[in-house]
Amino acid sequence: KNPTVAIVGATGAVGVEFAGCMERRNFPVGKLVPLASARSVGKTMKFRGADIPIQELTEKSFEGVDIAMFSAGATISRKFAPVAVKAGAVVVDNSSAFRMDIDVPLVIPEINANRIKDHKGIIANPNCATIMALVPLWPIHKVNRIKRVIISTYQAASGAGAAAMAELVEATKAYLEGKPFQQKVMPHPYAFNLFSHNAAMDLETGYNGEESKVIAETKKIFEDPEIAVGVTCVRVPVLRAHTEAITIECYEPITEADVRKMLSVAPGVKIVDDRVKNYFPMPIDASEQDDVLVGRIRPDTSDPSGHSVALLVVGDQLLKGAALNAIQIAELL
Ligand code: A2P
Repeated sequence: KNPTVAIVGATGAVGVEFAGCMERRNFPVGKLVPLASARSVGKTMKFRGADIPIQELTEKSFEGVDIAMFSAGATISRKFAPVAVKAGAVVVDNSSAFRMDIDVPLVIPEINANRIKDHKGIIANPNCATIMALVPLWPIHKVNRIKRVIISTYQAASGAGAAAMAELVEATKAYLEGKPFQQKVMPHPYAFNLFSHNAAMDLETGYNGEESKVIAETKKIFEDPEIAVGVTCVRVPVLRAHTEAITIECYEPITEADVRKMLSVAPGVKIVDDRVKNYFPMPIDASEQDDVLVGRIRPDTSDPSGHSVALLVVGDQLLKGAALNAIQIAELL
């Protein structure tokens, strides 16, 4: 019998894409159970031509559920993922709640699908900025171990949810109409502006929560506690695809040609690197695409020893950065 699949956060930016990915990839869903807050009762979720009523998430929501896809924030996951597991479901959780737990596999299928089988009820989906960076870095790391990586992100609104995407559109409209606009979701004006990532800042270290996630998750997913990660996360006024400028230093010498060769056959990666046309990965091209786009492949001139290369990476935050990666995990389950 095909599994009963619950979506927790069915009205959210990622929740909608869970259903979209399952539909598009012919995921064998027996029954779909869309769940959200009491505010959403009366709304429906579109799935395979049907409008399925959204139910309020409660302790009883998981009876008969085989797979529960969570994307309603870490607080909801902490409270309800154990409830779902107790009811017999396997949880794929898109929040940060369990990612660093020793018993919870943190999975990017192109990298460590083999870890899925170790789960004790919960499998965590990594942070979106982590996924985008690691999909193209893994094929390199496997062959020529990465000693140090420096990542600068240009992150889209979607990572902060549907309300943040709407705020970017509204703020831009107001700006163009010369009207005042008071932001409610983001901490700073978003139209024609950018700002340091809105995750909580650690006053001691000077790193925000998004940056700490990228550092810790990279070490866990690569199973390499020694990899040195430097990262700066920034929000840019783009709707749904993250861009990352990445520089890596490897233990062995590495050339641009080596990287091109490794990435040309890497699963989930598409090279977009046309110097003649000055055409490189862009959010507008990566949006609604499954692949992570990689370009600007070149030696890092700051390392004359020939151990370093630089890349520009762009991926759809809602798909590979969130829903698609999670559905790929569910498919392997
Ligand atoms: P709702 O629309 O009913 O508030 P996003 O990541 O786009 O911000 O979406 C967050 C998702 O999490 C939404 O589907 C939202 O549902 C859901 N959510 C937020 N708070 C709760 C809650 N207390 N119980 C269940 N779902 C919640």
